[in-house]
Order: sequence, then structure tokens, then C-alpha cells
Amino acid sequence: MGLLTGDALLSVAVAVAVFLLLLDLLHRRQRWAARYPPGPAPVPVLGNLLQLDFQDLPYSFYKLRHRFGDVFSLQLGWTPVVVLNGPSAVREALVDHSEDTSDRPSVPIYEHLGFKPHVQGVVMARYGPAWREQRRFSMSTLRNFGLGKKSLEQWVTEEAACLCATFATQDGLPFYPKALLNKAVCNVISSLVFGHRFEYDDPSLGRMLGLLEELLKEESGWMPQVLNTFPLLLHVLGLSERVFSGHIALSVLLDELVAEHRRTWDPAQPPRDLTDAFLAEIEKAKGNPASSFNQENLNAVTSDLFAAGTATTSSTLAWALLLMILHPDVQRRVQQEIDEVIGQGRRPEMADQACMPFTNAVIHEVQRFRHIGPLGTPHMVSRDTEVQGFLIPKGTTLITNLSSIMKDETVWDKPLKFYPGHFLDTKGCFVKPDAFMPFSAGPRTCLGEPLARMELFLFFTSLLQHFSFSVPEGQPQPSDHGTCGILFIPQPYQLCAVSR
Ligand code: HEM
Ligand SMILES: *[C@@H]1O[C@H](CO)[C@@H](O)[C@H](O)[C@H]1NC(C)=O
Repeated sequence: MGLLTGDALLSVAVAVAVFLLLLDLLHRRQRWAARYPPGPAPVPVLGNLLQLDFQDLPYSFYKLRHRFGDVFSLQLGWTPVVVLNGPSAVREALVDHSEDTSDRPSVPIYEHLGFKPHVQGVVMARYGPAWREQRRFSMSTLRNFGLGKKSLEQWVTEEAACLCATFATQDGLPFYPKALLNKAVCNVISSLVFGHRFEYDDPSLGRMLGLLEELLKEESGWMPQVLNTFPLLLHVLGLSERVFSGHIALSVLLDELVAEHRRTWDPAQPPRDLTDAFLAEIEKAKGNPASSFNQENLNAVTSDLFAAGTATTSSTLAWALLLMILHPDVQRRVQQEIDEVIGQGRRPEMADQACMPFTNAVIHEVQRFRHIGPLGTPHMVSRDTEVQGFLIPKGTTLITNLSSIMKDETVWDKPLKFYPGHFLDTKGCFVKPDAFMPFSAGPRTCLGEPLARMELFLFFTSLLQHFSFSVPEGQPQPSDHGTCGILFIPQPYQLCAVSR
């Protein structure tokens, strides 16, 4: 018994400090591997966390790239990170070495929020059977509903009509388009997942979008970084419940929607939507402990589809309309093409795309010039891998700078300009350079790409078929600079939508 004396305390403190430093060295030993990519020197325990400005990450990274080159390393807490810039490095990693670079970093905060081996959703699932099963399921469901009776294309076309009708009620007066675009795009995911669209004034839709926005906020900034580095903190004082209240509330809302859906599910009928198809898989998988088809994962997968499929697409559309009011000449040429190919008498269809090279080029150029996900989604290297002559050890987090590819001077004539000509050949036919990869590449490439392509084309052409968009009179030209959190989005702007 007895209190620790001053001397004893001191030796305990020294022992703890030495232990921490040793642990730190252990976590940093990767840096001493031969041919490890260069990077700023990390301080013990925090690594380079203090050297990054989380309010302006793009600028912090810009300086690092300038100093260390296209492939550089960082230490975020105890997580070793390598950043890849430029088309050849990214392709080499994600495509040539896809078997070794398709894992995701383990995220302690997710485990705290309910991640388990058979409950990982899709987006952040580890590269393994549970991910493969769910990725295949989502992709085949997307394909099947592309062909079904009420096909996905029909859902999107009808949603575009609802969106146009609501734009028309603004009577040509200035308004912020962002919230309406968000609602329309969220409805498309809701149609896919629940076979149901919400009216734009339905409070459930507003609530869903509010939670999705919170989710994005919760994942950006330094707090998740710190919690991932020191997972012990997650157990302190309900911290995670407070920091991740959006995640938790979204999961509760989805559970309610699934429960409602279950009541009307008739297994004898063909599936109405993704949830029906998933419920059928759960029945089939009963008694198979290896299956990832279970209630909790239904929640995780649908949450992923809403999170990955909503703000990405609606922000791209928000950029598209912003660029149209800033470039009225481009807008007029798109409208001309719409008038020639579709006219005013019918709704646009996907089949029109092949006859509309200019419109197609404009949509691609919006995605190139203002890419919404500059740094993609982090990958993890699951085996020592060589990229551009550098050695990236197993366990390293990989960040692929997709923006750098889409601004690469060797590929694009005018990388820093909005220039649809990047996607047109001399005869005016649509061409797509290999370096165009807003959806990433390799086995983890965006599985929603076909749906996103369909939404971008049908929403954009429907809107320009019905309206001419302009900067409200007397207002200054809005900026096309944008703000960067997890997504790169336009600063809030107003426009006028005048019926044609
Ligand atoms: C303009 C719209 C979109 C863009 C630019 C985009 C971009 C991306 C990117 C860059 C990734 C990461 C790929 C990687 O890890 O290397 C991704 C993943 C993903 N996206 Fe999209 N996306 C869009 C729309 C959608 C839509 C509409 C859906 C839903 C149907 C969706 C579902 C997903 C899913 C589930 C993943 C995870 C794939 C996996 O880890 O296997 N995305 N997306
Ligand atoms: C990504 O590329 C862009 C454009 O080249 C650059 O400004 C930015 O700093 C890069 N980010 C990282 C993380 O390297």
C-alpha cells in the first residue's frame, strides 16, 4: 500500500513516455523502408496532423506536392498515408496493381458505429467476400431495374419533370437551385431503394437530406482523424454519440423506412425495388453464417447508396447550372442541340445522348473542370506495392488525387478553363480521353456510374429544354471557385430560370 512517492511517479512517467516513443517508432518504421516516398518529417504520435490546415486542405496539399513531387507520404497520427498525383501513378496503382490496392483503411470510428465482418455496407467495406457480395448485388440490382417494368430511366425522367415543374413555379425570379436539385436526386435513390418518391415539401425528405448533410460534415475536419488515431477516446463520455449523431439518426430513419416496407412486401411478386430484392436474399441466406445479407447490412448498404449517390450527383448538377449562367454562349449551343434532336414536344431519353455530342461534352467538361470528389475515397495497400519506382508498404493508406488527373497539362489543352472542346474531335464528335476518371478506376470504381450518367444527362437536358438560366439582374457574377470539404461544391448562388 502507500501513495507513489515523487521519485516513483517520475519513473512511471518516464516509463510511459519511453513506451509511447517506442510504440511511435513501431508505427513509423515504414518511413525507413528503402524507396519510401518522400514527405514532411512527422512529430511523435501526432505525425503531420499539426502541419495540415484542415480548414484549407487543398492548399496544404498543394504546397506538399510542390515540395515533394507527385508521389509523397504523410503521417496522420499513426496512419501512414501516400498521396498519388497524375494519371500514370493513379492508373498504375488502381488498375495495374488492383489486387493489392483495393482494400479500404480500417476505420475505428465505424466499428464503433456498428461495422462487423458481415455488416460493412459497400463504400468502406474491406476488400473481401462481404464487399464482393454486396457490390455485385447493388450492381445487378441497378442493371435489373434498368430493364424492369418501371425502369430506372422512367423514374429519372419523371423526377426530371417534377423538378422542371417546381422550377417553373419560381416564375423567373431569383432562387437558390441547390435544395431542389438535392431533393430530386435523393428521390432517384429513394425510388431505387424503396420504390417511392417524396413530394418536395414532405418533411421526411427534408429530414433525410438534413441527415445526409450532417453525415458529410461529421466525416470531414480533424475530429474523425483524432478519434481514428486514438480510438480509446470513442469510449469517453458518449463522445461518439455526440460527434456522430447524424450517422445514428440516419440509421434509425432507414430502419423505420425498411420496417414500413416489410409490411407491404410480397415475396411471391417480383421485387419492386432494391429493398425487396435484399429481403429476398436475407430469406435465402437464412442459416448461412458466411452471408452478408442480414438486416443490419441492409441498413448499412442503403445508407451507403443514399450517402454516395445524393450530394455527389446534385452538386455536379449545381456546378453544371452555375457554369451555364457563367457561359451563356455554351448554354445557347446546348439548347440549339436539344431543339434539333429532341425539340419541345417530348421528354429527353437516354437514346438521345448518342446524337448530342455537344451536350455530352459539356456534361463531361463540368465533371472534369469542377470535379466534386477531388481526393476520391481512400484505399489501403494490402501487400507491399511498387508505384512509379516507390515502395508503398502493406497497411499504407492511399489517397488518389483525381483532380490532379483532370487538370493534367499533358492531357488537356486548357486544363484550367471551362472548355467543352476537351471532349470533341475536329469533326465535332464526342471523344473521351482515358484520363477522364471522375468515378475513379479499378475494382473499386464508382458502382453508381451508370445511374449518375443517366441522371446528369436527363436532368440537365430536361432543365435546358424548358428554361434559359441567367445570373439575376443586378447581382454580381457568382464565383466558380467553390469550397472543399469531403466534396468540392459551389458556393451558394442564385439564378433565374425563365421558361423558353
Ligand atoms: C456524379 C456523381 C458521382 C461521382 C463523381 C462518384 C464518384 C465516386 C468515386 C470517386 C468513388 C470512389 C472510387 C474509389 O474508391 O476509387 C465512388 C464510389 C462509390 N460510389 Fe459513386 N459517384 C457518383 C455517383 C454515385 C451514385 C449515383 C451512386 C449510387 C447508386 C454511387 C455509389 C457509389 C458506391 C456504392 C461507391 C463505393 C464503391 C466501392 O467501394 O466498391 N455513386 N463514387
Ligand atoms: C491534387 O491536384 C491538384 C491539381 O493538380 C492540386 O492543386 C492539389 O494540391 C493536389 N492535392 C494533393 C493532395 O496532392
